Amino acid sequence: MSYEFILVNPQVAPFVGLIQLNRPKELNALNLQLMGEIKEALLQLDEDENIRAIIITGNDRAFAAGADIKQMAGRNAIDMLKIDQFSTWDSIRKTKKPIIAAVSGFALGGGCELCMLCDMIVASETAQFGQPEINIGVMPGAGGTQRLTRAVGKARAMEMVLTGNFITAEEAREAGLINKVVPVQLYLDEAIKMASKIAEKSPIAVQMAKESVLKAFDTGLQEGLFFERKNFYMLFATEDQKEGMNAFIEKRKPEFKNK
Ligand code: HXC
Repeated sequence: MSYEFILVNPQVAPFVGLIQLNRPKELNALNLQLMGEIKEALLQLDEDENIRAIIITGNDRAFAAGADIKQMAGRNAIDMLKIDQFSTWDSIRKTKKPIIAAVSGFALGGGCELCMLCDMIVASETAQFGQPEINIGVMPGAGGTQRLTRAVGKARAMEMVLTGNFITAEEAREAGLINKVVPVQLYLDEAIKMASKIAEKSPIAVQMAKESVLKAFDTGLQEGLFFERKNFYMLFATEDQKEGMNAFIEKRKPEFKNK
């Protein structure tokens, strides 16, 4: 499939797919078509047997500077409701394989929300995270008030959402929003390294583990533990479980088959 606003490399490394946002002049502002393309690409990569982890990136200057303000400016509430852009975001959220955001430069508004929708975030030292929607008379709409608050806590989330202040990559790491900060030349390599490490594991176990961690955001502890336990038991139905445990006992590297 050909896309206008993203580039897809289905094997940036063995078993690792890459989606690069590609509207550089607009700082990768997320218009509806771009979001639709991300959704389509993720659906394809999620189905592809040769993909075990996915990276979403932008460029050195911007991961994404938010939803496309020029596209939204003239819309009214009913237009927004009918467009129902968040069904696209919900579909992205349902991706079974792990997604790593490799972020440099601006990750603002919908851009910050898109990287929070990913499972992990690797950033360059130049990355800046923010929810500046308040400056243009609105508020976050794609998870910013919820995922950010869960990640960094009330005080910092309130500050970011109410003042529009950005935080640096290092502040984001200290706050628990992101995983790693590396020099700008290395952020994509670091994300590939992390994705490749995940790609060595049993894909079924990775999928169930991802699903279980995400469940922690949706449920109370007891229900979450129950869900985790079911997934844990389920993995004993896989060949990969036998392979993983036998390889440990036989002191060799496991060869996972996704079975
Ligand atoms: C549309 C955008 C844009 C955006 C930047 N551009 N951000 N276009 N939507 N979100 C465009 C600019 O208009 C400009 O186009 C070009 O990209 C370069 O941007 P500059 O402003 O000239 O660059 P700079 O001076 O370096 O400032 C960078 C910036 C600033 C600080 C990131 O662009 C900015 O404040 N952008 C808006 C950030 C924001 O408010 N995001 C939240 C959006 S609302 P021209 O044609 O003039 O060269 C949102 C809601 C999400 O995300 C809800 C759910 C989806």
